[in-house]
Amino acid sequence: MTEYATLTLEGKTYQLPVITGTEGEKAIDISKLRQDTGYITMDIGFANTGSCKSDITFMDGEKGVLRYRGIPIEQLAEHSSFREVTYLLINGDLPTKKQLNRFSVLLNDQSLVHEDMQLFFQHYPRLSHPMGILSSMVTALKGFYPYLEDLEEEVNITVTRLISKIRTLAAMSYKISLGHKVVYPRPDLTYCENFLNMMFDSPVRPYKIEREVVKALSIFLILHADHEQNCSTSAVRVVGSGRVNLYAAISAGIAALWGRLHGGANQAVIEMLEGILKEGLTVEKVVEKAKDKNDPFRLMGFGHRVYKTYDPRAKIMKAMCDRLLAKLHIDDPLLDIANELEEIALSDDYFIEKNLYPNIDFYSGIVLRAIGIPTNMFTVMFAIGRLPGWISQWRESVDDPEWRISRPRQIYIGPTERNYLPVEERR
Ligand code: SDX
Repeated sequence: MTEYATLTLEGKTYQLPVITGTEGEKAIDISKLRQDTGYITMDIGFANTGSCKSDITFMDGEKGVLRYRGIPIEQLAEHSSFREVTYLLINGDLPTKKQLNRFSVLLNDQSLVHEDMQLFFQHYPRLSHPMGILSSMVTALKGFYPYLEDLEEEVNITVTRLISKIRTLAAMSYKISLGHKVVYPRPDLTYCENFLNMMFDSPVRPYKIEREVVKALSIFLILHADHEQNCSTSAVRVVGSGRVNLYAAISAGIAALWGRLHGGANQAVIEMLEGILKEGLTVEKVVEKAKDKNDPFRLMGFGHRVYKTYDPRAKIMKAMCDRLLAKLHIDDPLLDIANELEEIALSDDYFIEKNLYPNIDFYSGIVLRAIGIPTNMFTVMFAIGRLPGWISQWRESVDDPEWRISRPRQIYIGPTERNYLPVEERR
């Protein structure tokens, strides 16, 4: 039985339908508000606005819950692989052994990029940020892989092609930035093994694939794989709503993720920690700076639009820092600073009252440093992890019969009507 919300405007009463999700979340459906009342709503930053109904990812920000297709992130991080989670997000269920093997073969078949793409990298401005390069190269893929007639086949092949090639593009970008020979993907390696080998193998020092590092990378990518309607996923959905090809929609998501308040925060956290170490700042001083309204400084890696408790991904990432650094016999002073910062912040009224906790980006950079990923590629790693989420959300939106082009409204607050003035009369 449909519930209704009652709205009274200028003496008239309206009944607005209430939508209830499978986890009991509620929304007031205002799809007909403007045509019935002439009013629109205003919600800067969309903190109170739902853009869609989705059955992909569920988050409970108050309880720190995150599930992909109903499966808790803690179980996926412990038992699954990034390939499996990719399949789960895109297809809705965990793959059978046969489905996973076929998916792995497809990923391997699609792992090479067109040799001409190396020319793009060679002539890309040398000081470019890897996220800018990645966004450009993903759009360029459309030029190398024009559409197939059968849309369903096009989507399936394009999806696998993107998920496989994004690793190759990222590793190629890194090798070329070093002036080193590009390392090609190998059919005998798994998704994460291949990426690590393409990044770090070299004729003078063959890369030794270590199980702990592969596991850490797989968990890192699983933790980043989807997060419902965040900034970059919303960008993918909005750009995709114009019915543009998937490469262009994903390129928009990469561009949105680059922002330091979003995926760029993982790089910003490490730069913040390195700054604290280099300048010999006390953690207390840093926390005071973060609380100072007149200081633009923020404690990067802290706070979240949805989580008002500890980000469940950050808990897993923090535990992984300790495990991985111990296994690799690494002693990273930045981890000590991060642990100290967390301890001070979480006992400070400012952070407690504002529900500011570590988010996924607070510890993720420590893991990437231990693996050997350069700091300016941290957000690229986030993008590789988030790609299955972007694709599954894009696919859900284009398959949604209710979906239409995204076109928000506004309230105009500029000058009322006035006439054109010839230049001689302007003062
Ligand atoms: C990601 O949405 C997602 O799901 C994103 C993500 C994903 O997986 O896709 O989880 C990935 O982007 C994680 C967030 C990474 N960004 C950072 O770590 C940057 C630092 N954090 C902040 O900039 C901020 O917390 C945001 C951007 C994450 C959230 O911003 P909101 O929801 O708009 O909150 P806000 O800026 O309105 O802050 C509320 C209050 C403000 O104080 P008042 O004006 O109310 O007095 O909290 C303060 C803020 O000043 N505040 C902080 C703070 N974050 C918020 N103060 C100091 N340090 C911080 N980090």
